Amino acid sequence: MRLAGKVALVTGAAAGIGAATARRFGREGALVVVNDARADGLEAVAADVRAAGSKALVVAGDVTKKADCERMVGAAVRDFGRLDILINNAGINRDAMAAKMTEEQWDAVLAVNLKGTFLCAQAALPGMRERGWGRVVNTSSIGSLGNIGQANYAASKAGVIGLTKTLALEYAKYGVTVNAVAPGPVMTAMLAGVPDAIKEKIIAMVPVGRIAAPDEIASVHVFLASDEAAFITGQVIFADGGASVGI
Ligand SMILES: NC(=O)c1ccc[n+]([C@@H]2O[C@H](COP(=O)([O-])OP(=O)(O)OC[C@H]3O[C@@H](n4cnc5c(N)ncnc54)[C@H](O)[C@@H]3O)[C@@H](O)[C@H]2O)c1
Repeated sequence: MRLAGKVALVTGAAAGIGAATARRFGREGALVVVNDARADGLEAVAADVRAAGSKALVVAGDVTKKADCERMVGAAVRDFGRLDILINNAGINRDAMAAKMTEEQWDAVLAVNLKGTFLCAQAALPGMRERGWGRVVNTSSIGSLGNIGQANYAASKAGVIGLTKTLALEYAKYGVTVNAVAPGPVMTAMLAGVPDAIKEKIIAMVPVGRIAAPDEIASVHVFLASDEAAFITGQVIFADGGASVGI
């Protein structure tokens, strides 16, 4: 087991990539705090972690609220003694062409994807620094490179890259690594509603010729959270089937 005895917090873990990551972490021996802003689905994910032989704690909360982020980290410390790994996975999209994008759509996406990532990291990092070991894995996206209809999402996910690199530099000397995963298209609720014709177009842009399963992103989370990745910090791993490569 690659994360035996480690304590991990996964935000946005009720569904999709976060749920897959929480389950994988349980199988890798991590004690997992599962968070989401919505309560449905969270208990089921926690039950799967326990069924894998590990421990899980459900902490509902909104990553856009500083007090909630502090409560999640506090719950990990209270029940499991510390927090070793933060997977900043919670994210939303509110797509619209820039000319029609509302201020609410802009603010909502920046608040969850960028501010939420910062607030959870800010709550988690002091304890990691104190203990001299920590892993923060943030969630960017291939959308960070720019995507029609996603000015808010692209800006938030590009912002996550700048945040990741800065935190990596600030915490490198304390045994804490900070990296980001930038997934390409992954089959979750975020893509489920997309019409088949659009899905075909998306697949055509991915050299490996398919949409990823959530567990394929969880694999990257496991690696970056493990001891094996101790010399990797400030990096962005594009887990995108090659979609960001080439001309
Ligand atoms: N699915 C994709 O194709 C894809 C591609 C690139 C990046 N991503 C990123 O991966 C991450 C996970 O996405 P997913 O596809 O699993 O989506 P998803 O919608 O299945 O899961 C996201 C989860 O985040 C939760 N969430 C939303 N706002 C929250 C908040 N304020 N506080 C706490 N939890 C909140 C949601 O309730 C949901 O359960 C996101 O950051 C997303 O931007 C996804």
